[in-house]
Amino acid sequence: MEKILIVDDEAFIRENLERILAEDGYRPISTESPDEAIHIVAEEEISLVLLDLNLGSSSGLDVLRAMQEVDPEILVIIITGYGTVESAVEALKIGAYDYIKKPFKADAIHLIVKLALETQNLRRKLKRLSRDTDGINMVGNSPPLMQVFQQIREVAKHETATVLISGDSGTGKELVAQAIHNLSPRSEQPFVEINCGSLPFNLLETELFGHERGAFTDAKNRKIGLFEEADGGAIFLDEIGEMDMSLQVKLLRVLEDRKIRRLGGNRNIDINVRIIAATNADLKSAIGDKAFREDLYYRLNVFPIYIPPLRERREDIPILLEYFLQRFSKEFNRPTGRINRDALDLVMRYHWPGNVRELRNVVERICIMHNVDKILPAHLPREIWGESPQSEMPFKYEIPPEGIVLDDVVGQIEKELVEQAFKITGGNVAKTARILNVPRGTLRYKLEKYHLTSE
Ligand SMILES: Nc1ncnc2c1ncn2[C@@H]1O[C@H](COP(=O)(O)OP(=O)(O)OP(=O)(O)O)[C@@H](O)[C@H]1O
Ligand SMILES: [Mg+2]
Repeated sequence: MEKILIVDDEAFIRENLERILAEDGYRPISTESPDEAIHIVAEEEISLVLLDLNLGSSSGLDVLRAMQEVDPEILVIIITGYGTVESAVEALKIGAYDYIKKPFKADAIHLIVKLALETQNLRRKLKRLSRDTDGINMVGNSPPLMQVFQQIREVAKHETATVLISGDSGTGKELVAQAIHNLSPRSEQPFVEINCGSLPFNLLETELFGHERGAFTDAKNRKIGLFEEADGGAIFLDEIGEMDMSLQVKLLRVLEDRKIRRLGGNRNIDINVRIIAATNADLKSAIGDKAFREDLYYRLNVFPIYIPPLRERREDIPILLEYFLQRFSKEFNRPTGRINRDALDLVMRYHWPGNVRELRNVVERICIMHNVDKILPAHLPREIWGESPQSEMPFKYEIPPEGIVLDDVVGQIEKELVEQAFKITGGNVAKTARILNVPRGTLRYKLEKYHLTSE
């Protein structure tokens, strides 16, 4: 049972909070004494603290600091009365999770506590994950990704086993390749990578195999190719599906003989290299189209690792989100932002065609563009909330047998939509006007008409 500490000098508030928390099955502990509160945080497993900023003689901010000193991870929600909102903002800066204003409604407490504990839970999971996945620089806890981690560990042990990683663009194939190498007994040896789609055939060939001096007109010096460079380690052939057919033949021979020959050279050189290939194309159908050699496919596909697209492992989204938020907030020197419930719903529903890379980019962009501690739907790129059911499913209105007054019904629908948009943007008129595609003047008129104002 999660223990929640309530620190407030008003008995009435303490009792009220205790009752609300108990309803959700938490175990509330309350005190009015700051010293006792700090002592409890130090001694007991406290999941969350609800801290009043106005504690008579001592300042809530000092109490917060003292709690953080005894437990740097402590999760604190500030309760603020009239006139202390500024201090509450200060509290967020020094690491409080959120604040709630007095007087509060029970529902607001239920929700904020639930969200806070969920975030805390994610943060803990993230911590545990980075301990458990030592060497695997990847985040996620869905069953399919756990299986990928398992496969990485397994194949890493076999120093020279060939690996074929497949998955859509942005699913993390490069991270998997690096992890395999990092966890292998060869981790101190070279890891070289090349994108087979980025070079024309002859350049890719010399990159891979190297050449002797005078092998062709421009070959003024001997060049050591990547296979030789990777000797003792691993070579990562990215986008293997893009490789030219004639080069595929040469690669097949390397896989069979474990020897290479430099261009213009006359002797074979033994190489001891693990080959890791990756593709976001469907190689099976490329074989059908005669664009990929079947024999090469079977040579590469010794140990296949498939990474499913993000939309097929949505459980990974919250933890990835938290991971990128922490990472980019740190990078841009900001307090770690949090996502509100509506925005999270949208993010969970979106189909993420660009997979984890897209999610990463979205978070990075938000951290750059909006210096906010709470991410609202309005901060998300248009395509993400474009997919919410409201826009997928236009209104269905059944006209009742007695008929309708058209203006009234349209008015009702309009009011509902304006209200919704206003809520999404947190009451920002300019943004609301943009969402609804109406001039600001028109929106103001409608806001007035429907008695909608931002607080
Ligand atoms: N599970 C994950 N945890 C953390 N970061 C991830 C994860 N998966 C992908 N990423 C990040 O997403 C981005 C894309 O990953 P990566 O380059 O490995 O994808 P890819 O499958 O090689 O894509 P492409 O086919 O386009 O080359 C990178 O910034 C990577 O760090
Ligand atoms: Mg890649």
